[in-house]
Amino acid sequence: MRTDKSIVLVGLMGSGKSAVGRRLARRLAMPFVDADEEITAAAGCSINDIFELYGEAAFRDGERKVIARLLDDAPQVLATGGGAFMDPDTRARIADTAISVWLRAGLDTLVARTRKRDHRPLLNEGDPRDVLDRLMQERYPIYAQADLTVDSREESADATADAVVEALTDLLEPGSGGESVPR
Ligand code: S3P
Repeated sequence: MRTDKSIVLVGLMGSGKSAVGRRLARRLAMPFVDADEEITAAAGCSINDIFELYGEAAFRDGERKVIARLLDDAPQVLATGGGAFMDPDTRARIADTAISVWLRAGLDTLVARTRKRDHRPLLNEGDPRDVLDRLMQERYPIYAQADLTVDSREESADATADAVVEALTDLLEPGSGGESVPR
């Protein structure tokens, strides 16, 4: 599977964007970039600190600028933070320049995967299950606008990365024999 476009992973916190993105980049021989890491590098502090010191709106501003810059770079696999695709400008820019993939996951999976770490300010604002449930209602209809939807697999990030490669192959090389069996 070959593409001269970036592959942008979108989805909620805990959907596996970074873990799957790293594996996907290796399979496609493309660089992997994590937008959240780029934002913290540009700001010189953690996402928790950005939220606390400057507020969420400032974070979203920085996120929009950093992603716009990254999309101008050479093709890459780009893992975005869970809120990035909710921004209309970012969504339009991704649609123009890249292939977007929504890693879809169920609530139990998201809760389990986000439990171990406390670097996500939105999940410290209340019961994480309630927050994630609310974000699913708000965001899933928007994430569904991505070019591809792939279920984030329970068993491993490797299995999900394989499923993304298969979906990309179906999209970019129809008739190559790589089509998945319709479910
Ligand atoms: C956020 C998700 C986080 C990070 C920030 C806000 C969100 O990224 O960008 O805490 O709004 O869903 P991950 O999805 O990589 O955890």
